[in-house]
Amino acid sequence: MEAIPDVLAPATLGPTRLRNRTIKAATYENMARGGLVTDALIDFHVRHAAGGVGMTTVAYCAVAPEGRTDGEQIVWRPEAAPGLRRLTEAVHAEGAAISAQAGHSGPVADSTKTKVPALGPSGSRSLLSLRKVKAATSADLDRVVQAHGAAARMAVRTGFDAVEIHLGHNYLASSFLSPRLNKRTDSYGGSLANRARLALRIMRAVREAVGDRIAILAKLNMDDGVPGGFWLDEAIIVARWLEREGTVDALEMTAGSSLLNPMYLFKGDAPVREFASVMREPIRTGVKLIGGRFLREYPYQDGYLLEDARQIRAAVDLPMVLLGGITDRRIMDTAMREGFQFVAMGRALLREPTLINRISADPDARSLCNHNNRCMVTIFTGSRCVLVPGPDVESPAGQRASDRPHDAREG
Ligand SMILES: Cc1cc2nc3c(=O)[nH]c(=O)nc-3n(C[C@H](O)[C@H](O)[C@H](O)COP(=O)(O)O)c2cc1C
Ligand code: SF4
Repeated sequence: MEAIPDVLAPATLGPTRLRNRTIKAATYENMARGGLVTDALIDFHVRHAAGGVGMTTVAYCAVAPEGRTDGEQIVWRPEAAPGLRRLTEAVHAEGAAISAQAGHSGPVADSTKTKVPALGPSGSRSLLSLRKVKAATSADLDRVVQAHGAAARMAVRTGFDAVEIHLGHNYLASSFLSPRLNKRTDSYGGSLANRARLALRIMRAVREAVGDRIAILAKLNMDDGVPGGFWLDEAIIVARWLEREGTVDALEMTAGSSLLNPMYLFKGDAPVREFASVMREPIRTGVKLIGGRFLREYPYQDGYLLEDARQIRAAVDLPMVLLGGITDRRIMDTAMREGFQFVAMGRALLREPTLINRISADPDARSLCNHNNRCMVTIFTGSRCVLVPGPDVESPAGQRASDRPHDAREG
C-alpha cells in the first residue's frame, strides 16, 4: 500500500516542485488596472506566499478582451508581461510557486464593462448584464483556442510555474459542456463528444504551447447546480478524456454556475443584501426582489465537494486537487487519505493568508473564516475578507497611488 502523503511536505506537480501540497485557489482580486499588474496585486500574492502556501494562483486572466468579467482585468497581451514577471519574481522570493488562471468567461462576461459583445454557445440575453450574448462562430472558437495557447506560452515566458485553465462555472468552455446552455446543432453541440470539443481543443492547444515546461491544471465542473446542466456522470467521462489525451498534469474539480447559481460552489450564507447594494439599476431592484432565488443558500460543511470529487478520483489516475471547504489539517489529511495529491483553499486563506504557517506550527489550528460569503461582493472593488481591516483597493475611478499599473517600461 502506498504511504499517505504529508500535505505539508514537498511534492511534484507536473514539472513543478512545490514546497508543500497546499494551493491558494483563484479568488478574483480585481486589483489589476487597465489590464496591467499593480503593486496591490503583487502585495496580495506576496502575502499568501509568505503565509506558507505551496503555490498561489493569480485569478482569472482573460485570453481575449470579450472574455473578461470586468473592464480592468488582465488580458494576456505583451503589455502585461513586465508586470506579470515582477509578480512571479516577488512570489518566488518568498519560496512559493505561482500559477495563473487563464480562460474565457463566455456568457459570464459583463459586456457593459468590457464594451465588447459576450460570446456563448448559443445566442441569449445575459441575466448579469441584460445584454445580448452572441453565439460563437467556429472562427470565434478557433481564435479562442489559439488564444489559450498564446496565454499559456506567455505564462511560461513571464515565470509562472503552472497555468490553470478555467473549464468551470459556466464560463465559455463550461457553457459549451452544459446541455442547458449549449443548443448548437453543429460539431460543438449535441453529444457529449461535441459539447466537450472546445474544452479538449483548448487543453490540447495549451499542452502544445507549453510542453512540459510548466504544470497544467484544469479546473473542471462536476455539477453546474442547475436542472439540465452538466453533471457528474459526464464530468467523469470528460476527466477520462483529458487523462487519455495527456493534456493536464492535475485536475481540480469545481461546481456551480456564475451565471445561474453562483452559491452552489460556495455553500454557507447568501449575501443577497450586500450583492444588491453593489449592483446598478435595474439589476439592483431585481436582486432585491428575486435575489433569494439567484443567490440560494446551501449548507456549508468542510470538504463539501469531496463526495462528488471522490467519484472522479476513482475514475482517473491523474493527480487531483481537492477544493471546497478545505480549512484545517484534519480535512487536508482526509483529502490525502482519499487519494488527492493537493488541496486548494479560497476563503480560508482570504480570511487569513498565514493559515498554512499557523497549521504547520499547530496541527489543531482552526480557520477563522465563518462562510458568510461577503468576500464575494468585494470582487467588485478589490477582493478581501470583510472581517479583515484593509488594505482595500478602490474602484478605478478612485485609484490609489499603490494601484498604479506597471506599464510596459517597468520590470
Ligand atoms: C472572492 C472570491 C473570488 C473568486 N474568484 C474566482 C475566480 O476568479 N476563479 C475561480 O475559478 N474561482 C474563483 N472563486 C472560487 C474559489 O476558487 C473556490 O473555488 C471557492 O471559494 C471554494 O473554495 P473554498 O471553500 O476554499 O473557499 C472565488 C471565490 C471567492 C470567495
Ligand atoms: S468574508 Fe471572510 S469570513 Fe466571510 S466567507 Fe469571506 S473570507 Fe470567510
